[in-house]
Amino acid sequence: QDHLVAAGQLSRADVERVLDRAAEFDAALSAGGGEALPARYPETVLALCFYEPSTRTKMSFETAMKRLGGQVVDMGGVDASSVSKGESLADTVRVVEGYADGVVLRHPREGAAKMAAEFVDAPVINAGDGAGQHPSQTLLDLYTIREAAGLDDLTIGIVGDLKYGRTVHSLATALTEFDAHMHFVSPESLRLPRSVRFDLHEAGAELREHTEIDDVLPDLDVLYVTRIQRERFPDEDEYQKVAGEFQIDAETLAAAKEDLTVMHPLPRVDEIDPDIDDTDHASYFEQAHNGVPVRMALLDLLFQNHE
Ligand code: CP
Repeated sequence: QDHLVAAGQLSRADVERVLDRAAEFDAALSAGGGEALPARYPETVLALCFYEPSTRTKMSFETAMKRLGGQVVDMGGVDASSVSKGESLADTVRVVEGYADGVVLRHPREGAAKMAAEFVDAPVINAGDGAGQHPSQTLLDLYTIREAAGLDDLTIGIVGDLKYGRTVHSLATALTEFDAHMHFVSPESLRLPRSVRFDLHEAGAELREHTEIDDVLPDLDVLYVTRIQRERFPDEDEYQKVAGEFQIDAETLAAAKEDLTVMHPLPRVDEIDPDIDDTDHASYFEQAHNGVPVRMALLDLLFQNHE
């Protein structure tokens, strides 16, 4: 496929192809690069168009492209670009396509990457579209899960802001390809949106919903924690009703399996006590680091496919 705009595009075979390639890049990076990591794309330029803030996604795409021997141009965000003068997304991506061979797009509007992909031939990667999807995050999440717990016969608890959480929407959809047992833990007001419920239903996945982590914790191989996203709430009062709802600490994890893997797409605010960071449960920094080999693999496959 030319573009990656939603996790639903990815079959199990697609995911495994990316993760296997990522494992090769991971090994080469761990070996220090060199001959194991030849510059594959010296003439290739990747454009970063981020209309919302980012640390991990933007920097790991940039690192990935540079590790592949390629180059990066950065639109520089809304205020530093002609977006602030009112330029449309369609015009922006059509212009950027003339400068670059691929576009990584983060945008506050759901569906933005899908729309952008209709205007350009170069591969478009959705790096987060509002409360919609974040499929490249899902690939690194799946890579992390495969490394830590395996993707077969997986029981995962997905906790927090399931309504606005684009990482959750993409991950839940992708996990249906692996027949994972998914438990969704959230306040009533932050349950999965209708579109994701529909995808899960169509895929034959069982929708197990809870309001308390304790109800599911002992069964879990992976606990995937997410931030309640203040910036997505239309009403501050509604946010305050659920702020701080889930805070994972050593006491929370007392009933967990010894080898439970705790993940978080980050940034975190108060969802995971820093005391967990130094335990064997914590995988969230490793998860963020996996963004580089996984995005190298994704870029490599998309560029090869587009040749
Ligand atoms: N996980 C993630 O998307 O982080 P950033 O917002 O920092 O890119």
